[in-house]
Amino acid sequence: MLTARCPRQTAESLFQMNILSELRDRFRPVLEQLTDDAESLLEMIRPSQDPRFGDYQANCAMPLGRVLKKPPREIAERIVSELNVGDLCEPPEVAGPGFINLKLKDAWIAKCIGDIAGDDRLGSEPVKNPRHIVVDFSSPNVAKPMHVGHLRSTVIGDAIARMLRFAGHQVTTDNHIGDWGTQFGMIIYGYRHFVDADAWQTDPVGELARLYRLVNQLTEYHAARESLPGIRKQLEDRRAALQQLEMDSQADDGSRKKQKKAMRRQIAELEERLQSLQARIDAVESSAELRNQAREHTDIARLSRLETSRLHAGDPENRALWEEFLPKCLEALQRVYDRLQITFDLTRGESAYHDELAGVVAELKDRGLAVDSDGAVCVFIDGNEAPFIVQKTDGAFTYATTDLATIAWRVRELQADEILYVVDSRQSEHFRLLFATADRWLEQPPSCRHVAFGTVMGRDGRPYKTRSGDVVGLESLLDEAVQRARPVVDANDDERDEPLLTEEDRRRVADIVGLGGIKYADLHHNRDSDYVFDWDRMLATTGNTAAYMQYAFARICGIFRRLGIDRSAVAASDGPVLLPTAEERTLALQILRFSEAVDDVLADYRPHLMTVWLFETAGCLSRFYGACSVRDAETPDLRNSRLLLCDLAARGIRTGLSLLGIETAEVM
Ligand code: ARG
Repeated sequence: MLTARCPRQTAESLFQMNILSELRDRFRPVLEQLTDDAESLLEMIRPSQDPRFGDYQANCAMPLGRVLKKPPREIAERIVSELNVGDLCEPPEVAGPGFINLKLKDAWIAKCIGDIAGDDRLGSEPVKNPRHIVVDFSSPNVAKPMHVGHLRSTVIGDAIARMLRFAGHQVTTDNHIGDWGTQFGMIIYGYRHFVDADAWQTDPVGELARLYRLVNQLTEYHAARESLPGIRKQLEDRRAALQQLEMDSQADDGSRKKQKKAMRRQIAELEERLQSLQARIDAVESSAELRNQAREHTDIARLSRLETSRLHAGDPENRALWEEFLPKCLEALQRVYDRLQITFDLTRGESAYHDELAGVVAELKDRGLAVDSDGAVCVFIDGNEAPFIVQKTDGAFTYATTDLATIAWRVRELQADEILYVVDSRQSEHFRLLFATADRWLEQPPSCRHVAFGTVMGRDGRPYKTRSGDVVGLESLLDEAVQRARPVVDANDDERDEPLLTEEDRRRVADIVGLGGIKYADLHHNRDSDYVFDWDRMLATTGNTAAYMQYAFARICGIFRRLGIDRSAVAASDGPVLLPTAEERTLALQILRFSEAVDDVLADYRPHLMTVWLFETAGCLSRFYGACSVRDAETPDLRNSRLLLCDLAARGIRTGLSLLGIETAEVM
């Protein structure tokens, strides 16, 4: 089979390609004759899991058979007889109870490959109806130790924003930093009482983090001491009750067993709580300095809250301190973003909405959406026990009030159609109530989505903490990634007969591999799941890692370099695309499925589906190398065709990684 192709000229003339949408377009008119709900049936056309059943499978005859009360096989036969796919598929086969198996024609695959030659988008088409989407991500509480969880939001949010832009949407990224919360009251209190003037001069951000931790520690110490007797009492009661039950029940029936088991669990939980409270207390009491500070600042919790309310009420001194602290916190944050190459269109923190909060609450009350309840103002949403508190008993507005004002602002000022919140799954209740309230409150509510993610765990099964647990800690985490990547890069280059990298190259490549490794390790997990932070796996050059993908890209560049051929020249030449082996065909098909990967990611905001495409592509490539020699191809046309596949795979890998915010290097 042989297909001549025309050289590509301009970006605009590039062919657009999405096999799955093409197949669905072909099925649509046929299904529409049979049912009113063709769209949901079209969803049932999917890539097949097993190549024996073709490249794609349509399973729509089964549900259709149930509705139409006809044997699904009969319906499948009817669909096939009316289907017009002769140009792209071999004659479809009906299998089993009524599966329709579709195998693409080699000639059609070859034609499509020719059509997308030279295209960095691999034929991925921009959406027909672009929306304006605000992506709210990263959004750390500044002046409070930042942890790896913030890295998750930052990396996932950035990938989603890049992907949406790539797909043609209008995107506004907004870093909704927590710059107005109780942590400022805490550091204001800390600054007034405990600041170390020298440390403040030399490292203000480090000093602020220390002050935050100190005030937090003292606050928790007093809270622990206060709650200790109550917990002890509860524990004693539970223990006594258990003893009673054990004495009473000589005959152990099932329900008593259950009861006892539940009690033992409660006792274990109480013991654990008691232990952790005691540890908090011991940590302070074992240090003479902390002990003294604790004794002198017994009312620290209330007084720091007071500092926060003074700030909110416009107290000039607190306002001046806030204005001094904030830029310093932001600078430290910016260093992390710069290293990660992450930018925001807006950094509009909570403080920006302060003046609107009273108005929001008044409006909610006017409209009967919020009511007074035990001195607080709450929105009650049917089906939810917890109220959505928009003003607390002390008059303070909340995280919730600010988020409502923020939605209104984004609709009013940005004309947002959709808002994505890339935030820890532990906040899902907050967002459920927020969206439900916004839906009732706003005339034209945007469509809102909580793009939730799980926790980063340490090897010990507990949430992962950087050693010092602060922003600086996050920076040193990035440093460590790059440091650990360096020997990987060195080893690879030293293995060559003649190393290719200068010292400076090696440093740059280590940066790309290290930071890419951190991002990819996060992104290749389904975002809902917790995952274990593991340096060795992260930087491995085999397996589903950034390094593996980056080396796969560089390997292709190496093939071209050694042959002395320019990649873009191959893309522009007009030889035929030849797919004589199964490995070439599979690689070609995988390349054509890039745009499906983009669709898959955006269907439910799951960047890991792009890593699935990348990893499968790397697998296809290595099987292709095993079966097909590029240099020693039997004919110049075949060599050229193989080079074209290599070039497209390289473009796909580079684009795929860049959509995840990860860089590549041609030589590494
Ligand atoms: N600052 C919050 C936190 O660190 C996250 C904010 C997320 N965005 C939002 N609009 N609520 O938990």
